Amino acid sequence: MSHRTNRLALLAGAAVIAGGSAAGWTTEAQADELVLYCSPQEEWCQQVVTEFERETGIRVAMTRKSSGETYAQIKAEADNPRGDVWWGGTGDPHLVAAEEDLTEPYESPMLPELHDWAIAQYEASDGKTVGIYAGALGFGYNTELLAEKGLEAPACWADLIKPEFKGEVQMANPNSSGTAYTALATFVQLMGEDEGFEYLKGLHANINQYTRSGSAPITAAARGETMIGIVFQHDAVTQKVAGFPIEVVSPCEGTGYEIGSMSLIKGSRNPENARTFYDFVLRADIQSMAREVAAYQVPSNTNAEAPPESPDFDSITLIDYDFKTFGSSDVRARLLERWDNEVGSLPN
Ligand code: G6P
Repeated sequence: MSHRTNRLALLAGAAVIAGGSAAGWTTEAQADELVLYCSPQEEWCQQVVTEFERETGIRVAMTRKSSGETYAQIKAEADNPRGDVWWGGTGDPHLVAAEEDLTEPYESPMLPELHDWAIAQYEASDGKTVGIYAGALGFGYNTELLAEKGLEAPACWADLIKPEFKGEVQMANPNSSGTAYTALATFVQLMGEDEGFEYLKGLHANINQYTRSGSAPITAAARGETMIGIVFQHDAVTQKVAGFPIEVVSPCEGTGYEIGSMSLIKGSRNPENARTFYDFVLRADIQSMAREVAAYQVPSNTNAEAPPESPDFDSITLIDYDFKTFGSSDVRARLLERWDNEVGSLPN
């Protein structure tokens, strides 16, 4: 940990105590609590909670829910917010929440340490959200199931709609999952909207299940319950590193990506603690710990160590993902409605 981050942590801690006593109304219990809505993988949520509690003494009540579900919850609770911070999950619904004024701007002293792509998220939202990690979309497949069926390895998005993969593909539901929404938005950007929906209908014919959580399909593939899972590539790497027969694919046509984000919930009950948490998780030493729980996203702090297992962004063909458009409230709602009407409701 650098001298600078140590000092920031101390300053942040001091602010909590001073804020509580100066205001004169903050009870002991309120000063020591934080309600965290967490959208990355559960293991990472738990690691961050443990480290934060240990360092600050603030008790964290954490719930892990997918990105779309968390956005819906924050919106439903807007008149009486229960959460303080929303940490992680894909950036699009964080941008939607910012546009809908569900989240608060905050200029963290950690911002100068962040990559440009993390700051771009901050600027696009008038300071209401910030990038905490990046991940490229792709898919993974179970090499043993592929060999058993004697099929050729899929390398492109186009392969996933071939008849031989009928019933072999799993992805999440884009309403609940930010991963699946990133997939939907990626197909629309790669192919055009109507063609993208034609592709999604073709894919639907091969889908065995739409899961709630974005990474569930690759966990299922690792266990042999599905051959292919459409997920962020780092989630497939996690299964491969754990020893499962999973191969990670960066699709040949190119692919979209996420800027995993963090936002402070407007009108929250523990705003000082929320800012302390916000600064804490942007620190290089905290971001570098993600590897210990097999979270292989690319960290947003320029001084954090990207795990060597992380997919190499330089070798992935990325589209110029339009976060402004696909992270806007109207576009997201319209695309999800179209997906429900034209894809999700079809028999397969
Ligand atoms: C996984 C990925 C994260 C991503 C998250 C989104 O945990 O590792 O990088 O942000 O999924 O979750 P969701 O369930 O909303 O697709």
